Amino acid sequence: MKFQTQKIAYWFFASAMLLLTLQIVYGFIMGFARIGMDGLHEWIPFNTARAVHTNLLVVWLLTGFMGSAYYIIPEEANRELEWPKLAYLQLISLLLVGVAAIVCYHLNIWEGRKFLEIPRPLDYLVVVNVLVFLANIGVTLWKGTQHTTTSIVLYMGLLFAALLYLPGMIDFDNQTLDSFYRWWVVHLWVEGVWELIMGGILCFLLIKLTGVDREVVEKWLYIIVGLTFLSGILGTGHHYYYIGTPKYWLVIGGIFSALEPLAFLGMALYALAMAKKGGRKHPNRIALTWSLGCAIMSFVGAGFLGIAHTIPQVNMYTHGTLITAMHGHLAFWGAYAMIVLAMIAYTLPQMTGRKLWDTSMANWAFWTSNIGMVAMTGALAAAGITQVVLERRLGLDFLAVQKEIEMHFVGMLLGAALFTVGITLFIITFFRHGLPSDEAVGADVAGDTAWAASKS
Ligand code: HEM
Ligand code: HEM
Ligand SMILES: [Fe+2]
Repeated sequence: MKFQTQKIAYWFFASAMLLLTLQIVYGFIMGFARIGMDGLHEWIPFNTARAVHTNLLVVWLLTGFMGSAYYIIPEEANRELEWPKLAYLQLISLLLVGVAAIVCYHLNIWEGRKFLEIPRPLDYLVVVNVLVFLANIGVTLWKGTQHTTTSIVLYMGLLFAALLYLPGMIDFDNQTLDSFYRWWVVHLWVEGVWELIMGGILCFLLIKLTGVDREVVEKWLYIIVGLTFLSGILGTGHHYYYIGTPKYWLVIGGIFSALEPLAFLGMALYALAMAKKGGRKHPNRIALTWSLGCAIMSFVGAGFLGIAHTIPQVNMYTHGTLITAMHGHLAFWGAYAMIVLAMIAYTLPQMTGRKLWDTSMANWAFWTSNIGMVAMTGALAAAGITQVVLERRLGLDFLAVQKEIEMHFVGMLLGAALFTVGITLFIITFFRHGLPSDEAVGADVAGDTAWAASKS
């Protein structure tokens, strides 16, 4: 770690771990409700738990992205962060807004739009918060002595993510229009600009961990960005199939969304190629494992399980079933949760000076969380396929079908238990690192700087 202010990332990451823990708690509340153990129903009914679960997911991922940016931007721009105190204030206010939103959901105050349930007044606070964040890292980047592709792609991803938040704040009386613009946020985030954020962070990690020349690693990033925009923008059409929009969306959405996995495949091949090419063995093996795992699992969850239901002829039957939940879990995990965890695995030793990068606990955390998540996804697939056949093909009643598939949620809960073991180990490893220390600044924990200097 080169600069004092990079340590701010620690507090964002620690907050992300806390929110992830809460997200899992609400996941279990739903999972148990699904098998008939719904004792909390009076206080936390399924719909409340669902909104809290998915909103916490989005908030901890954004917190993780922000932490990553506070670490990466000073390093890439080669100067301290412009307003460090403001960054702490921004974190605290972000958490306060998050808590306020969760309280609102429990009081049944929300907007009835999946993923964007946050009440409107709080939306404005989110906007201010994100503007402050963007200004802070933006000015730092602007005044920096170097402007790398990695930092610019990361910044553009964050900036566009902020801009795309706005279409979700327009009010419509018309259900179709409302859906239409909701996807500008939800789809264009995860299948557009968040991919730039992921690409930027992955690029940073690969440069650090593989030792391949920056020019080579960054060249690939352009290809990924190109593929993402080429497919992802018109790919939005896969949400416009049968919602009252013109018929041409069936063709546009079908074709372009079917191309989207290419960007994720590109990312996986890129990461593997860089790891193979890099002659250097960075001592932080687990950070490289998380980085490569992210590149591969995002292809499986987003690319492969995405294409499984993106064609109009298939989506007609699978829309809004547990097939969607199956894909949603592995895609979010593989692409965005894993990139944040990879970044944490890389930066913690840098910020604290403690080299806990090859412990068996760190390795178990990786494997059990991933195997657990794959098991959860498998159980949701079984439930989803059964639901589609019974409800959509054979025409059985919705609730009767939900009863039929109850057993699959026992399987899901077992997978979730394994997953939770992995996350627990990850969090224990996190806190065993201790707090960020002043000595770690400029200490070149893994010999990164010495290695880079020896090359030039
Ligand atoms: C990391 C990237 C991705 C993430 C995090 C993600 C996540 C999600 C989530 C959470 C939903 C449910 C949204 C809602 O109903 O509000 C969804 C829906 C969908 N996703 Fe993805 N996705 C990703 C990439 C992809 C890709 C690349 C494809 C296609 C190849 C795809 C195809 C679909 C389709 C067709 C739906 C609609 C399902 C339905 O009709 O109910 N996704 N995705
Ligand atoms: C112990 C862990 C977890 C359990 C038990 C769990 C359980 C659930 C359940 C029961 C649902 C509702 C599905 C339905 O509508 O019937 C859900 C939704 C969702 N969960 Fe989880 N979850 C867990 C962890 C996670 C993690 C780690 C992620 C992301 C990385 C995640 C992402 C999502 C998403 C995106 C949805 C919405 C899916 C959709 O739009 O259909 N969950 N979860
Ligand atoms: Fe989409």
